[in-house]
Amino acid sequence: MTSIPAKSAQNLRVLVLGDVVGRPGRQAVERVVRPIKERLEVDLVIINGENSAGGAGIDAGTALDLKKSGADIITLGDHAFQRKGVAEFLDKNAAWCIRPCNFPEETTPGRGWCAWTAEDGTQVRVINVMGRVFMGGSIDCPFRCMNTFLASLPKDSSCITICDIHAEATSEKWAMARHTDGKLSLLVGTHTHVQTSDAQILPGGTGYITDLGMSGSNTGVIGMDAKVALRRFLAPTPAPYEVAEGEGIVHGVLADIDRKSGKTVFIRTFQER
Ligand SMILES: [Fe+2]
Ligand SMILES: [Fe+2]
Repeated sequence: MTSIPAKSAQNLRVLVLGDVVGRPGRQAVERVVRPIKERLEVDLVIINGENSAGGAGIDAGTALDLKKSGADIITLGDHAFQRKGVAEFLDKNAAWCIRPCNFPEETTPGRGWCAWTAEDGTQVRVINVMGRVFMGGSIDCPFRCMNTFLASLPKDSSCITICDIHAEATSEKWAMARHTDGKLSLLVGTHTHVQTSDAQILPGGTGYITDLGMSGSNTGVIGMDAKVALRRFLAPTPAPYEVAEGEGIVHGVLADIDRKSGKTVFIRTFQER
């Protein structure tokens, strides 16, 4: 595996972690993120928290837990609104906890992107977008939504842009990669909970991975209890999901983005117990 280069002041170092699943995921994030942030001189930590509350959804408690554990920004996905009270929470904390931008704007609480400023003043925008292939719900076109976001960026100053595309189909994520290469600094996929081995820098300078993988227990089926998951495949009777027990592992990528050009200069997958 590629070794991690020494931190350069020229670059913004970003750690992005995939879907945190329940308590094992939250505990793994608590154990891993702060020490790594310090050891590797990470400037910005982004974590997908859409499964942080009981394996489905997020609530104020789990969002604040992730923030306390070192997340600067939390992104979500199809489970964004599963928990009670989350609409009010997102409206109040939209500066650091964002939901997919292509939910209908007029009727959806919270925001689909946020701004973050590094200690040296480097401007970063983080956007969350959801795919439509094999995903339920009526959402707007992610590609057109991305165009609107890109058109809204300030023209005269450099700005680092990072997107979490929460989608099922690898083809849709790769299509977004081709659509945004050279326009985004970093594009990372979430939702399938299994880390892909295609972390790379695209020809235009956008860092990319199809899926970060999850942060949760590896003993089950994508973070959920194996017995229940199997029962759902083998029997017609309803079986509510339960979070898999056991020690959590965090999965994601570590990337260095040039502060001036906004291009990714280093990207590597990340797994840590
Ligand atoms: Fe999801
Ligand atoms: Fe998920």
